[in-house]
Amino acid sequence: MPGPNMSGGAAGAGVDRRGRSRIIAGLELSPPLQPLISRETIQAMKPSFAKPELPKSGAVVVAVLEGRKLTPGAQMIDRAAGGAIARAIAASRFKGGPEDALAVLAPAGLSATRVLLLGLGKPDKIDAQAAERFGARLVAQLQNSGETEASVIVDSTDGTGLGAPEMAARIAHGARLRAWRFDKYRTKEKPEDKPSLKKLTLMVADPGEAKRLYQPLDRIADGVLFTRELVSEPANVIYPETLAGEAQRLADLGVEVEVLGVKEMRKLGMGALLGVGQGSVHEPKLVVMQWNGDARAKDKRPLAFVGKGVTFDTGGISIKPAAGMEEMKWDMAGAGAVIGLMRALAGRKAKVNAVGIAGLVENMPSGAAQRPGDIVKSASGQTIEVINTDAEGRLVLADALWYAQDRFKPRLIVDLATLTGAIIISLGHVHAGLFCNDDELAEKLIKAGRATGEPLWRMPLGDEYDQAIKSDAADMKNTGDRAGGSISAAQFLKRFIEGDLPWAHLDIAGMAWANKDRPLSAKGATGFGVRLLDRFVAAHEG
Ligand code: BES
Ligand code: MN
Ligand code: ZN
Repeated sequence: MPGPNMSGGAAGAGVDRRGRSRIIAGLELSPPLQPLISRETIQAMKPSFAKPELPKSGAVVVAVLEGRKLTPGAQMIDRAAGGAIARAIAASRFKGGPEDALAVLAPAGLSATRVLLLGLGKPDKIDAQAAERFGARLVAQLQNSGETEASVIVDSTDGTGLGAPEMAARIAHGARLRAWRFDKYRTKEKPEDKPSLKKLTLMVADPGEAKRLYQPLDRIADGVLFTRELVSEPANVIYPETLAGEAQRLADLGVEVEVLGVKEMRKLGMGALLGVGQGSVHEPKLVVMQWNGDARAKDKRPLAFVGKGVTFDTGGISIKPAAGMEEMKWDMAGAGAVIGLMRALAGRKAKVNAVGIAGLVENMPSGAAQRPGDIVKSASGQTIEVINTDAEGRLVLADALWYAQDRFKPRLIVDLATLTGAIIISLGHVHAGLFCNDDELAEKLIKAGRATGEPLWRMPLGDEYDQAIKSDAADMKNTGDRAGGSISAAQFLKRFIEGDLPWAHLDIAGMAWANKDRPLSAKGATGFGVRLLDRFVAAHEG
């Protein structure tokens, strides 16, 4: 009688995984695990707050409103420069729009090296997001300019809902998010190609208040940048064991972290998740993170977040083509976002009870790998015919979703996954797909997405779509046809949600990684989902 993983022997019969993986993976497994993520990388930009004055060195950054209207800070600089700023604007196409930038180098009358004018648009459009993007734009302009320090003069603008301290805090937040780079493996970068900007000062009338408002944003950025680091690391560095090790470091912040191994997962009958991992020398792990920030909650049931953590997706026996396969190192971005979210929540001591679950596997072809046609039994008891071993994320989530519900009886559950290429065909790199069985939950998530600039677009669910995953041999199969591929994937997940439990699935395949710069991130890992879900959680805080 086969075990819960019906293809029998997830470890590959008779193989001493531990011994074998040491020989095969050699270098990276033999030394004791060390924290991979240097805090310095994610702390590279540490903004500070001070009272306004004429900056004596470095770049000075000021805002200009739509229609070339100088803000008070810009006027002050213009006066000191004998009107050179207004003249430079008049001689250019700079209008003060939210995309406009104009640098005036070495203006007479100022000891600053340059004045960077950044458009802020129309006052009634200026909100937290506009301020964050302002901070990000100044970094994009100055980071590699040779300038080592910059000061931003921040004043409140009439007609906006944003006070100057909040504005300063948001600018600092956007700057830090945009400044992050993944360059720990570049040993030969020329000094002149390295970022020059080290110091950023926000000048604002009430620096104390700005700093107070900035603190939680700084913790959220810790979470976002942690996610980006994890997602950027290659698969020879981040595999289930090491990713679980990174999650375990959240214990320092008061997160309760447990890591389940193959033995525990077998006992729970997680044949779907284990089947995906059985072809790899790296054992699957299930990470369980609990943040109990609200001991006196009336409703004791936590919010649950579940992430797909395929540390590398070759496709398995249904192997992917070689071109672009390297991108599949970021197939753990859902799990990465859940881990970063837990870091953000714990870091800012959110008054909420939340659990994060990350299902970690490596999807490899090998003699021990799962085959097309295999039938596995999930922890929920439902059986699955594996038509395509490349549709592995849903198999991992099936068991992780079941575990989250069975153990924690959550109020609601949100999963994140780089689940389908089809969602990129549908929504491009603009929105993540949102699939949801509850209109209220969907509304809340969409709202949080809008507020953070991590937008979601709701996609349909329905019985007609469910037909596509009917199997002749088991309770369901793991692929539908090509048509509506993201939807049949979501229907598959829905089969692992009990009753009417509010559930949302975010297909983030188009959003986790960017091939060009985005407003708040340089190209590469975006950390998508952390800020969105942090905002969503904030709406539930007691
Ligand atoms: N991780 C991929 C989805 C993906 C593809 C993310 C491209 C980002 C970029 C997922 O595991 C996968 O391979 N999905 C298949 C499903 C298919 C076999 C039904 C896909 O989308 O092609
Ligand atoms: Mn796949
Ligand atoms: Zn995948």
